[in-house]
Amino acid sequence: MSLDLAILGGTGLYNFPGLENVEKQTVPTPFGAPSAPIVTGHLAGRRVGFLARHGEDHRLAPHRVNYRANLWALHALGARRIVGVNAVGGIRDDLGPRTLAVPDQIIDYTHGRPSSFSDAEGAKVEHVDFTEPYSAPLRAALLAAATRAGIRIVDGGCYGATQGPRLETRAEIARLRRDGCDLVGMTGMPEAVLARELGVEYACLAVVANWAAGCGGEAGISLEEIYANLAAAMAQVPPILVALLAG
Ligand code: HPA
Repeated sequence: MSLDLAILGGTGLYNFPGLENVEKQTVPTPFGAPSAPIVTGHLAGRRVGFLARHGEDHRLAPHRVNYRANLWALHALGARRIVGVNAVGGIRDDLGPRTLAVPDQIIDYTHGRPSSFSDAEGAKVEHVDFTEPYSAPLRAALLAAATRAGIRIVDGGCYGATQGPRLETRAEIARLRRDGCDLVGMTGMPEAVLARELGVEYACLAVVANWAAGCGGEAGISLEEIYANLAAAMAQVPPILVALLAG
């Protein structure tokens, strides 16, 4: 049985409220175990899956997430569409804390993360077109769902994927801004490219937790504020996903 939609939940989103007939599936993969068992269930009459990217108790730092196992497992369960929910810092002036956005581009600054299924011993090298890193139909569906749910969301933006787990320096964010990044986060890659390698539609629902370093004035970034902003903004995510399923 396939999954109409799978959610990769990030910091601040550890389950999918309202799921019915919930089951937990432990899915082994050739790349090891996913971050957590995959929770499947029904919502708005559709079958959906939820995977907590950082593990059920947020054990896994962004560079330690087994992205290949996560994507492989969701694909193995028959996920046709995957929405990655990612907490991010805002760089562009209209992307302040608590804003939601559906980015349309990525620049990858991560390193040392297994980022292709072709890395496996004996695997055939596969090149994929990544000109448009996200699925256009799924992006459009997410934006339309947010509008139906009456939730403000920004269409587009470039996601700069950094290594973490530390936040960036002011100079690093100034460089990302010069590069054309509008948002910065630690988990957008290699998730997006692994979905592309598997031929699964993938889009990112970015939730702005804070101004990126140096973007919100002189002060440093308060972790308490990050968590308070995330708690408030993540509450808007499930209604969008419900509208997406119902649409
Ligand atoms: N930088 C990188 N990742 C993040 C940030 C940030 O400022 N906020 C939330 N995730």
